[in-house]
Amino acid sequence: MLWTLGCTMNTTTAATYTTINGATTTGVSMWLFLLLCPPVLALLCSKLLRAFGLSPLAAARQKLPLPPGTMGWPYVGETFQLYSKNPNAFFAEKQKRYGSVFKTHILGCPCVMISSPDAAKFVLSTRATLFKPTFPASKERMIGRQAIFFQQGDYHACLRRLVVRAFGPDAIRDKVAGVEAAAIAALRSWNGRLINTYQEMKTYAFNVALLSIFDKDELCYIEEVKQCYYTLEKGYNSMPINLPGTLFHKAMRARRQLAERVAEIIASRRKRGVAATDLLGSFMEGKEALTDDQISDNIIGVIFAARDTTASVLTWIVKYLTENPRFLQAVTEEQEEVRRSKEQAEEGDKCLTWAHTKKMPITSRVIQETLRVASILSFTFREAVEDVEYQGYLIPKGWKVLPLFRNIHHSPDFFSEPDKFDPSRFEVAPKPNTFMPFGNGTHSCPGNELAKLEVLALLHHLTTKYRWSLPESGNGIQFAPFALPMNGLPMRVSLKT
Ligand code: HEM
Repeated sequence: MLWTLGCTMNTTTAATYTTINGATTTGVSMWLFLLLCPPVLALLCSKLLRAFGLSPLAAARQKLPLPPGTMGWPYVGETFQLYSKNPNAFFAEKQKRYGSVFKTHILGCPCVMISSPDAAKFVLSTRATLFKPTFPASKERMIGRQAIFFQQGDYHACLRRLVVRAFGPDAIRDKVAGVEAAAIAALRSWNGRLINTYQEMKTYAFNVALLSIFDKDELCYIEEVKQCYYTLEKGYNSMPINLPGTLFHKAMRARRQLAERVAEIIASRRKRGVAATDLLGSFMEGKEALTDDQISDNIIGVIFAARDTTASVLTWIVKYLTENPRFLQAVTEEQEEVRRSKEQAEEGDKCLTWAHTKKMPITSRVIQETLRVASILSFTFREAVEDVEYQGYLIPKGWKVLPLFRNIHHSPDFFSEPDKFDPSRFEVAPKPNTFMPFGNGTHSCPGNELAKLEVLALLHHLTTKYRWSLPESGNGIQFAPFALPMNGLPMRVSLKT
């Protein structure tokens, strides 16, 4: 079926139908009467078109223009242009030239890229059923085909209920103490050292993810889970050649071992009769409980979703705060205030609480502005499951559709001086659908509360107890695969005296 957005069926399309209909008129009045009767007209048209091997919708589809843009060379398309420079520069250039909906051809796939808030909402939310999530087959094999990202429909809805049950605000408020302990331990291990900020943030984000997936009695398995995941991770961006010795082969073996460890943890939990509120508990309990294979695919998937994303955001926050001493001071003062209120609590209750994290407006705006400026997930992928009309253009079935979050976040129409880091802009809520760091609609990020909590906990201790410097200044960016400050932002950290 050909879908339209509201009243976007334009005059070109309507004219197309008229021309096809007009071709069947005769001089006889009865025939005229019959022919002008709309149902008969439609039937005749469709018969005529079928005689030529066309369905009415196929004909309409052929008349709709594709979005403007260029497709590049056969097979390779514009892949080299995209990767020979900063991909964000490629998207920005295209948008400037062709507007907010344009076509291109990347990595062997014809694509439509969209960079307006309405178009992103159309694809991700209001017409989400017309666009399925899409990943390279090798990524699906590595993460596991039953993981949440690749799903649509009832199974996806069930997985979301289970994930949100474990990561929604009600579940997360019990995790504050654990997340704070992980932040304290991470910072302590950095004291007096020159660290690779991104790598250390990855370790921290991994530890937080694991403590929200498993129980503390399962820690004995955790080291093995981590080792398997590290090997798996090395294969994510490798050539998908499954021959002994290749990174891909090693990754697939590590994946099987990881699934075995998860199966052991599940068996031990069943034996112990543990009923837990963590992610594994949510997957195992109740009438929507998953099979062991579904559980391991989704645990690997959540680690994959949680780790590099949160670590990149934390790395950018450190950079932006260091470069903007005025905001660093404001954040530090706000966190000092929280520290004082913690100290006034009863002995034994001097920890960070959920209530504290809700009283950090300045720090929260710094996080929002970092998510906007850095836009670490600069776009996402969908695939049209049928021919779709959007604003008079055809998005053919099977084409990839990429909502470009970063272009929206950097549009001067929605954010004045978009490249400037200015958290105070979030004192006023952004316009609807212009700020989507956690996506939008059916596949939006269920881990956003946990991500914000772990950033707040780390910033609380970093700003109140430590000082730091960045020996390598500069604006270099690397892609790994998210945009990152060059060399993972080396940072020297020491306790405040
Ligand atoms: C600052 C850190 C994070 C950012 C910027 C982020 C961003 C996103 C975005 C943009 C999506 C939607 C992708 C799409 O529509 O294709 C997403 C999905 C997802 N995220 Fe996050 N995320 C973060 C942290 C986390 C964490 C900590 C977790 C888990 C604890 C998590 C779990 C997930 C999952 C499971 C999905 C897939 C949801 C679905 O397909 O229904 N994310 N994330």
